[in-house]
Amino acid sequence: LHQEGIMTEFDGQCTEPQEQILLHELNHRVNNEFAAAISVVSLAAGRSGNSEVKAALSGVSELLHRYADVHRALQMPEHDTVLDAETYLRQLCLSISGSYLDHRKIKLVLATEPLRLQADRCWRLGMIVYELILNAARHAFSGGAGEIRVELSRAGAIAQCRVTDDGSVAPTVAPGRGLKIIDELSKSLGGRFVQKLGPRGSRSILAFSCANEANVTSRIPRQGGQTPGHAAQAFDDSPAIAPC
Ligand SMILES: Nc1ncnc2c1ncn2[C@@H]1O[C@H](COP(=O)(O)OP(=O)(O)OP(=O)(O)O)[C@@H](O)[C@H]1O
Ligand SMILES: [Mg+2]
Repeated sequence: LHQEGIMTEFDGQCTEPQEQILLHELNHRVNNEFAAAISVVSLAAGRSGNSEVKAALSGVSELLHRYADVHRALQMPEHDTVLDAETYLRQLCLSISGSYLDHRKIKLVLATEPLRLQADRCWRLGMIVYELILNAARHAFSGGAGEIRVELSRAGAIAQCRVTDDGSVAPTVAPGRGLKIIDELSKSLGGRFVQKLGPRGSRSILAFSCANEANVTSRIPRQGGQTPGHAAQAFDDSPAIAPC
């Protein structure tokens, strides 16, 4: 390592919590690694005289760009603000489709209504949805085509997010890290998560309170708690949750 020239001075004051610094470092490192990999692959594509190799390497470079998009969409929010979860999920689903689903002919359908959430809660919801979509893509379709639906709706003070697919489940299921992370994230939202994996499709439902969010567009619940334009019907096994 050779270092010369510019000197940088830090005053030693640190205002960020340690976890945040570590997450920033992780994000920074992953972004750098994506950039480095994209640059190596693009240079190799440019240098190759073989059109098939060129096309394959360009495909890899494009895919790395899409993975980087997903990583960016799931980055910890910088500011303590309020986000529209519908817009957030749309952006996330677009990146996931482009990187994991389109080339496998897996269709991703998003049916949401506007829902204002604190940025941090929106991010946690995004990470749960990401893992559920990837689980369906990896485990439900045996390498073939299929459909995954993501629905977000609100009934009064309770938000419900459902992820369903029309694939199938293997005869034996071993819980991995993904479902544990989902469980922890659901708890951190003060919500409840239930999942039914089946031979003719799987469904996962997360219910959490949105009572304290800045829902300036709040709708008046109809009798029975359904809001007009409700995107998803409640299943019998919807997790029961009380507003906090
Ligand atoms: N939508 C689905 N369709 C069929 N099987 C599923 C689905 N979602 C989860 N599974 C099953 O549940 C198991 C546990 O999922 P989990 O996300 O915990 O682990 P994983 O995806 O195998 O590994 P990882 O730790 O990388 O997430 C999977 O291995 C799979 O067998
Ligand atoms: Mg998983």
